[in-house]
Amino acid sequence: MKEDEYLLPLYKRLDVSFVKGKKSILYDEEGKDYVDFTSGIGVNSLGYANKEVVKTIKEQAKNILHTSNIYRIKSQEKCAKKIVELSNLDMQCFFCNSGAEANESAIKLARKYGNTEFAKPKYKIITIKNSFHGRTIATLKATAQEDKHKFFGPYPEGFVYAKDINEAITLIDESTVAVMLELIQGEGGIFMQDVHKIKELETILKSKKLLLIIDEVQTGVYRSGNFLISQ
Ligand SMILES: Cc1ncc(COP(=O)(O)O)c(C=O)c1O
Repeated sequence: MKEDEYLLPLYKRLDVSFVKGKKSILYDEEGKDYVDFTSGIGVNSLGYANKEVVKTIKEQAKNILHTSNIYRIKSQEKCAKKIVELSNLDMQCFFCNSGAEANESAIKLARKYGNTEFAKPKYKIITIKNSFHGRTIATLKATAQEDKHKFFGPYPEGFVYAKDINEAITLIDESTVAVMLELIQGEGGIFMQDVHKIKELETILKSKKLLLIIDEVQTGVYRSGNFLISQ
């Protein structure tokens, strides 16, 4: 087998392989340079081989690479404090491994809230056409692109799709617990939601004690200006 045939062919990959990077420049195996306009996929916003990042990873690797959640993790506490301060929000942090897991956790928190805070439990989560929330079973179902749902059912119930914010408002009913959305859709084509519509939605949700879940997997950590776009 050719080397790339050991991988499941899940992505259409270009036949180029990067071995090195410096700031926004990538180098392939032949030393040819490329300007990376995609930052990985919206990930490497500090550029490649950032000195501080390299130093921190090296130091941590020398000391300890894994410890468990059953102990206190001082660096995690420090990081959580920084995130809370930068967010300006009354919140706490939960660290996990991927965007899908973060959204899965948000869905679980919303469901728990819906099941415990109301006399009649609420569970439905409204999401917006062309969103992308992840590849796990629940976050794939939360992703309002029905062509992506072929093959993997049955799915957990309770996801409702709205074509836009106006429709999301009309779809809120007595079983709805949350609306989940990206303020700038990434996969959906860098589509920015109207701030006034979002404010209207937020006011309606607040008045009903319902939740607004903002997926910041592509917008957070200064990638759209502020630390969080939802600030
Ligand atoms: C808006 C959004 N949410 C969630 C995800 C899923 O993140 P991950 O690939 O880390 O699971 C992505 C990934 O591209 C995304 O763009």
